[in-house]
Amino acid sequence: MGKLKIVTILGARPQFIKAAAVSSVFSEHFEEILVHTGQHYDPNMSDVFFEELHIPKPKYHLEIGSGSHGVMTGAMLTKIEEVLETEKPAFVLVYGDTNSTLAGALAASKMLIPVIHVEAGLRSFNKAMPEEQNRILTDHISQLLFAPTQTAVKNLKHEGISNGVHLVGDVMYDGILYFSDIARKKSTILSTLGLSEKKYILCTVHRAENTNDPERLKSIVNGLNAVREKIVLPLHPRTKKCLQVYGIQLADHIQVIDPLGYLDIVMLEASAKKIVTDSGGIQKEAFFLGVPCITLREETEWVETVENGWNVLVGADEQKIVGAIMGFNPREERSDYFGKGNAAAEIAAIIRNTLKN
Ligand code: UD1
Ligand code: UDP
Repeated sequence: MGKLKIVTILGARPQFIKAAAVSSVFSEHFEEILVHTGQHYDPNMSDVFFEELHIPKPKYHLEIGSGSHGVMTGAMLTKIEEVLETEKPAFVLVYGDTNSTLAGALAASKMLIPVIHVEAGLRSFNKAMPEEQNRILTDHISQLLFAPTQTAVKNLKHEGISNGVHLVGDVMYDGILYFSDIARKKSTILSTLGLSEKKYILCTVHRAENTNDPERLKSIVNGLNAVREKIVLPLHPRTKKCLQVYGIQLADHIQVIDPLGYLDIVMLEASAKKIVTDSGGIQKEAFFLGVPCITLREETEWVETVENGWNVLVGADEQKIVGAIMGFNPREERSDYFGKGNAAAEIAAIIRNTLKN
């Protein structure tokens, strides 16, 4: 008998990083076919991850590119359906909460192909976020739901979902455990940028609610401009465009650079004094690496990091941003909320057992 066939849908930066942890384990057990929707397409938002993290080359590249939510999701749905018609997989796997996630899950569900959702059960309880809509809808049409935290399991239960839910830990923790030593050995980013360990703040901003509202983006930049600290800002293309369109100026102590590959960003995260971000993945990585995190949002899905005192929510409030950069200092020991770093292996084992039963 041949190996079980799984089609995995990818499209955005955080999904490539999650796939790096999962696909290497899957290759031992399954025939995994990667489908890249093309949601992210700049070389430093896509190719760099496949090359440096040795993610297998996608068999299909759908080249969807950017667009409104409806245009993007609709085009993905059409093309993913064609791929599923051809491949007839036993499962379709999706990661996280992007438009590529929802399109993959919906295409599969309508064809009665069981959906595996990795990073299931996360909630911000803010339905204005496109990600919140994507994750709720995806969870409700998934058959196997791999939750990274106990909170995620609880969230699913509150929505009446308990069948097929498995607490396995976070695949991004697997990734950090595996790649952070490699990053320390291989990355030369500190010397390239002229930075010293723990002498700078790392910042990333890309959430629609921060970038699409000129007042919020201006307020965030005012906060960053007001502090007397070196700040490094790898700029997401969405944010780059918005800063230009709104004519927002960054002060000289902010070093703007292009988006980085994973090994370089992990090196920059681990060596930063503090991290200021609205990224979901980077909030967790800051926690894994023991770096204080200041989150530019009103709420977070990763509530454990806040409860444990390693993450503080400041929204887009200029004064709170300045206050946290100057004064936020975690004191608690970090707890073990995200599993043991073997989430990918657990996921593979559970999929195999599901089939046996
Ligand atoms: C998407 C996800 C978000 C995730 C983020 C990770 C959705 C709704 N949002 O947001 O959950 O946190 O990816 O980074 O799926 N662009 C480029 N080059 C690229 C990619 C994007 O220039 O390679 C620009 C385009 O102008 C595009 C804009 O960035 O319109 C936004 O891209 P999009 O994929 O729609 O959303 P993200 O903000 O990247
Ligand atoms: N990341 C990266 N290069 C960068 C910025 C982020 O490789 O310049 C990585 C980061 O370390 C994390 C992931 O991308 O693993 C998070 O993606 P992003 O912030 O784009 O999306 P989110 O996690 O908020 O969905």
